[in-house]
Amino acid sequence: MCPGSFDPVTNGHVDVINRAAALYDELVVAVLVNPGKAGLFSVDERMDLLRDAVADLPNVTVDSFEGLLVDYCRAHDIPVIVKGLRAVGDFEYELQMAQMNRELAGVETLFVPTAPQVGHLSSSLVKQIATFGGDVSRLVPKGVYDRLVQERTRRLGQGEST
Ligand code: PNS
Repeated sequence: MCPGSFDPVTNGHVDVINRAAALYDELVVAVLVNPGKAGLFSVDERMDLLRDAVADLPNVTVDSFEGLLVDYCRAHDIPVIVKGLRAVGDFEYELQMAQMNRELAGVETLFVPTAPQVGHLSSSLVKQIATFGGDVSRLVPKGVYDRLVQERTRRLGQGEST
């Protein structure tokens, strides 16, 4: 599985999902439900945007989960988590989580180095740029781009300065 917040999915995520889908017969992309954190998009909308972004990959399904990742893996017989690594900055925390998930449930983590063209992408940066009217059309799937533009138009319509 490929787990994440996906708020929203970026071309960096899509790169990792495509490569994970080529390695395994089945791939679940699962959105973490974090009740303490609202996010820009609802979990349902994140899932819709993801479904749209992976529509060309027949072995990929999209789901959501709340709680521990290893509990989801156990419940669905998932043996491997696939994570993208953008740069060394990602490694320390990802390594810690990978070791913990293996200790908790024997679930392995496979790290995929992201393609250099998308190594600088993050959902937070994309949201920040889109909020201030910057062009993110080359950084996210088309459906996400359209929703970000819509969101900015809505905010401007409500009289918000950004
Ligand atoms: O896209 P993100 O925010 O980097 O994804 C992080 C995610 C969802 C993969 C991570 O926060 C996670 O696994 N959360 C579930 C809670 C959990 O299992 N925590 C213990 C990890 S060792």
